[in-house]
Formats: sequence, structure tokens, C-alpha cells
Amino acid sequence: MSGNTTKAAGKPAANAQVAKLTLPDGKSVDLPIIKGTEAPDVVDVTSLYKNAGVFTYDPGFLSTASCDSSITYIDGDKGILRHRGYSIEELAANCDYLEVCSLLLHGELPTKEEFKKYKHDITYHTMVHEQLQFLYRGFPRRSHPMAILVGAVASLSAFYHDSLDIKDAAQRELAATRMIAKMPTLTAMAYKYSVGQPFVYPQNAMGFAENFLHMMFATPCEAYKPSPAMIRAMNKLMILHADHEQNASTSTVRLASSSGANPFACVGAGISCLWGPAHGGANEEVLLMLQEIGDVKRIPEFIKKAKDKDSGFRLMGFGHRVYKNMDPRAGVLKKSCDEVLEEVGVKNEPLLAIAKELERIALQDDYFVQRKLFPNVDFYSGIIYRAMGIPTIMFTPLFAMARTAGWVAQWKEMIEDPKQKIGRPRQLYTGETARKLVPLDKRK
Ligand code: CMC
Repeated sequence: MSGNTTKAAGKPAANAQVAKLTLPDGKSVDLPIIKGTEAPDVVDVTSLYKNAGVFTYDPGFLSTASCDSSITYIDGDKGILRHRGYSIEELAANCDYLEVCSLLLHGELPTKEEFKKYKHDITYHTMVHEQLQFLYRGFPRRSHPMAILVGAVASLSAFYHDSLDIKDAAQRELAATRMIAKMPTLTAMAYKYSVGQPFVYPQNAMGFAENFLHMMFATPCEAYKPSPAMIRAMNKLMILHADHEQNASTSTVRLASSSGANPFACVGAGISCLWGPAHGGANEEVLLMLQEIGDVKRIPEFIKKAKDKDSGFRLMGFGHRVYKNMDPRAGVLKKSCDEVLEEVGVKNEPLLAIAKELERIALQDDYFVQRKLFPNVDFYSGIIYRAMGIPTIMFTPLFAMARTAGWVAQWKEMIEDPKQKIGRPRQLYTGETARKLVPLDKRK
């Protein structure tokens, strides 16, 4: 490496620091090193194919930065997560979820006046087109709510034609507002549909978290007023799930959007990706796992199974591609568990005792220590949701609802980046080389 580093992707400054790559044929290429504000530098390989005729190879993106972004910073070794420079712990302790949405989207925490306006704008977009209920009614009652959400969110593009032009800044802002505002309504509708209850309309007099709980649990026959403890817990859970830089679902939203597709369809793609058990689907799996364990005495049996590669079983809610230390979100949730359970009046939750003991045993076990496998955000969230009366099947939809803020902020950042290009990965081809076709009647 030599000279200074460059901050502009793709264009090395005259004195930029470079990495030199020498290929077996003796060809040598200089690859500029780009520095961010924090975190590892990146080696810019965009000109590699043009200059050397080779691709880089990194399935699963183990060492590849797919974009530059100024929204979220993670230091996985230290267990640090910050949005726009603010630690997740501080945001979760002090903010309303909508303040965090505004921060993610606009770069700064809103002033009182800005917040008032943002809250008003979101509140007045929470209602969904009345026709959407017929889409819901087309689904079998036993559908997983994630299946409904994938369709419902993508279908917003059929209803809101005035926010589909991604080249128009005002339309982009309107699309972002609509998605964040309508997700709780769509999520609660998916729940109501699954239990055969009438849909509950949003209430403009309520705050964002309160309104969601109201749409989940009120019925036309009975009013429902969530307790301040429930509202606080919901608000905190939403903040903790709001964004997480270039995770699988966010990268899906970015890749889908890179073709210029409309944001509603792209967030639908993100929801599909989130559903998988290695990603957001893990919160549902954690609770099912804790229920299956059933007793602290059975923990060693499950730890043994998780270490056995032939079992196909993993400790759900454990491990993370980026965190090689405690996931800070899990730290906040673990601390909140006892407090929330007490506040909502749940005494002696046996699953919490199992979870804490499972964590304790795993963190002393060589297998988990050597691989740096710690609890992630999904490990404790389900216990809190359960205490709040939220059914297990709704855990992943709640993740999707909160993560919509991150998806739309990352989408907007990408569209507004002049360097934005269609995402088009290359491959290492391992198939047949050219061969002659034998007509069907001559094939043996
Ligand atoms: N239980 C047992 N072994 C594990 C686990 C686990 N939960 N996670 C990773 N390992 C092992 C894995 O078998 C591998 O072992 P070896 O080196 O002997 O082959 C090693 O640890 C590295 O695992 P990996 O699969 O190469 O790591 P990855 O970065 O590709 O995967 C992960 C990350 C989150 C998909 C994985 O840790 C996992 O499957 N965890 C369980 C599912 C889960 O909790 N997902 C939620 C993630 S956080 C929230 C979110 O993203 O939505």
C-alpha cells in the first residue's frame, strides 16, 4: 500500500493508497483503497475485470461491501450498533420510534417542530385503501401473516400510483411515509384476518405504538386501551428492529430497487427475504425451540444437538454474521425482559428462565466460545412479545413492520446516490463447456 487513501468510490486520487494484485500471468493491477469514517477500509475492485479480466469471488458477501452508506454503523467485534452516530442503547432508552424513523430517513433527529409535522404526516397515512380488505379476504384464514404481508405491501403499488415515480423526490418521500405509516395497519389486519375478527381502523388520536396495539387487540364489541408499559415495550422493540445496515432483506430491497422497480414491490421482496429462519423468521423459531426444550433439565440435550452437524439443528437466536460479541440489541432486550414482564403483570415466565440458562450454558461451551456465537436480537424478543399477548406467528411480521423504516431509508439513500447502478453480480461458471445438440429422436 502507498500514498493517501481515497474517499470517492471507483476514482483513485493521483496519490491514493492502493493494493497491488499480481495474477499468475504476471499482470499486475492497482486497486484503490477507500476509507470510510469508521470500520475497515475497502479495496475498490470495480475496474478489476476491465483491467485484468478476472472477477472477485465472495458467495454470501463474507468480505464484500455492496454499497456505501451513512445510515447505520456496526462494529461486530465490539458489539456496537449506531444509527447516524447515535448508539442503539441511547435511541432505545430515549426516543419515540418515529423520531428514529425520521433520523434514519433524513439524517438528523427531528426538532420538536419537525417531529410534530412528521408524526402528523405518518398518522394521516395510516389508513389503507378500503379495497385492500378484499385482497386479504382472498387468502385462506390459516395463511401465515408473512404470506399476506408480502402480497399486501407489494400490492400498494396498485393503489398508490402517485408515489411510484422514483425520480421525483416528493413522490419518494410520499412512498416512504406511506410504507412506514401503513405497515402497522397491514400487519394488524393480517392478524385479525387469521383469527376471524373484523379489521380495526387506525385511530389518529393515538401514538404509533399505541395505535398498532389497538388495531391488534380492540374489537368492535370491546374497547382496548394498551397500558403505558405495553406502549413503552412496543416502542422499544420497534426501535431495536428499525435498521441493521446491509443485512439480507435490506440488500434484497436494494438489489430489487436497483432496476428502478417501484418501492412497494421492492419492500415486498424484502419481506420475503426476512421471513427465512436464518433472518427475521428466527424470532418465531426461538420461541418454538424454548417451548420444545420445556425444562432447564433438557438444555444439555439441545446444546449437544446444536453442536452435532448431522442433526440439522441450530440454536435459534444464536450467532450472527457480523456480531462476534453480544448483539447490543439482545443486550437491551435481556435487560428489558424482567422489567417488561413485571410491568405487564407476567410472573415467573418459565421460558425466560430456560432462555437465561441456555445462554449461560452456551456461553461457557467451547463450541460456542470458539465460534463466537452469542445471543442475537431474536433470542429475547419473543419472550417479551409473548408477555404482551402477541401470538408467536406474529413475531416475524412485527420485525417486518419495524424494519420497514430501515428498508425505505436504505432504498431512498440508494436512489439518491448518483453512483447508483443496477446490481448485477457475476459468477464462477462450473457447468458444461460448448457441446453439440443431439435431436430428440436420436437421443439415447
Ligand atoms: N447453532 C449452532 N451452530 C451455529 C449456529 C447456531 N445458531 N450459528 C452458527 N453456527 C456454527 C456453524 O455451524 C459454523 O460452524 P463450523 O465453523 O464448524 O462450520 C459456524 O458456527 C459459523 O456459522 P455460519 O453459518 O458459517 O455463519 P453465518 O455468518 O453464515 O450465519 C447465522 C449466521 C445468523 C445465519 C447463523 O449464526 C444461524 O443460523 N443462527 C441461527 C438463526 C438465527 O438466530 N438467525 C437470526 C440472525 S440475527 C437477526 C436477523 O438477521 O434477522
